[in-house]
Amino acid sequence: MTAPSYLSGFGNELESEAHAGALPRGQFSPQRVPFGLYAEKFSNTAFTVPRADNRRTWLYRIRPSVMQGPHTPLEHDGWRSAPLGDGVTPPDPMRWDPPALTDTGDFVDGLVTVAANGNVALQAGIGVHLYAMTRPMTARCLVDADAELLVVPQAGALAVRTECGHLEAEPGEIVLIPRGMKCAVDPRDGAARGYLCENYGAPLRLPERGPVGSDGFANDRDFLAPTAAYVDAETPCEIVTRFQGRLFHATLGHDPFDVVAWVGNALPWKYDLRRFNTMGSISYDHPDPSIFTVLTAPSDTPGIANLDFVIFPPRWLVAEDTFRPPWYHRNVMSEFMGLIYGQYDARKSGFEPGGMSLHNALVPHGPEAGVHEAASTAALAPQKLDDTLAFMFETRYPLALSRWALESPALQDDYANCWQGLARHFLPPA
Ligand SMILES: [Fe+2]
Repeated sequence: MTAPSYLSGFGNELESEAHAGALPRGQFSPQRVPFGLYAEKFSNTAFTVPRADNRRTWLYRIRPSVMQGPHTPLEHDGWRSAPLGDGVTPPDPMRWDPPALTDTGDFVDGLVTVAANGNVALQAGIGVHLYAMTRPMTARCLVDADAELLVVPQAGALAVRTECGHLEAEPGEIVLIPRGMKCAVDPRDGAARGYLCENYGAPLRLPERGPVGSDGFANDRDFLAPTAAYVDAETPCEIVTRFQGRLFHATLGHDPFDVVAWVGNALPWKYDLRRFNTMGSISYDHPDPSIFTVLTAPSDTPGIANLDFVIFPPRWLVAEDTFRPPWYHRNVMSEFMGLIYGQYDARKSGFEPGGMSLHNALVPHGPEAGVHEAASTAALAPQKLDDTLAFMFETRYPLALSRWALESPALQDDYANCWQGLARHFLPPA
């Protein structure tokens, strides 16, 4: 496979053709498509969604998707969807070491669900999973009809094939795959692991910038879509479909990645999180962590996200007379965190790359005792937080843990102890 090439831009209509002249000009569905291709429309939002939010792509392919055979159920104990009924999730802060994920096969085989909220049938909520793979999806592709996929590599680069072309991503980058788009997520160099969020709700979009103005945060131009690349092969392929919280599979008699040209804005993208233009306080106090939102998937209630994807990237801390780490906090939203590399600034230890934490709705959390002590007495010179990249899936509904997460030996039973050393400092006036 040749090295991928990319088109730049998020949300706007892009177009690509593997052969000059393959893309119909002046219309989408001519009586005869150039080169004998079929036209197929891929709708990723309802037809009548307002224009600014509408996502659809026209695919011009060797044969239409409709040729796939009947589906039969495919067992997969690890991959679960909301609503989960796995056990009781306590209102405690919870944290996991990087779990031991053994030789688990390909991307689908190795998925294990950590938590989920909402209801997949109602298009509300998210699924939070880990992936670990040592094999490519040879003669196999995935269609997630339930969710948009947000892939967060933590170790090992990815080589991702999609109907719109292929792309590569390494830790520090993310990959977005539209709901229902055929894809194959493979380890580029033999093995890979990371985090996966299934977004059951509206597609992720860039947040508004408000008074920040017309640049900053994640910039549209840094989102990269693949260019059209097709496979013309009569090789049978297993299509694995996630549908209403269950897995099915069917056979297609030819390679599914047979799109020669496309035009639209329902596209896979990758984004390098190191391009994020971080905003912060240059006077005192620090803003809400929503200042670090890369992408947001709105719910039906304005201002309340089904999913915010938030990062904690390298940045300067310069605020004067300010407690600089995250404050002690109780949030009506629920916070799942992972660490891609480095050290998170509210923790000295216990939150390792590949690990994760969950602070569900209104569960108190904040800096551990040692961090509070140090941050309260430090001389406040400008300080660079470097070589660190943590992220958060922040979501509207409390996350229910899977049985795997509740019973995992990686679950730390002493996490809450990190606050037990918080000293009493209160000195009332005499
Ligand atoms: Fe928080």
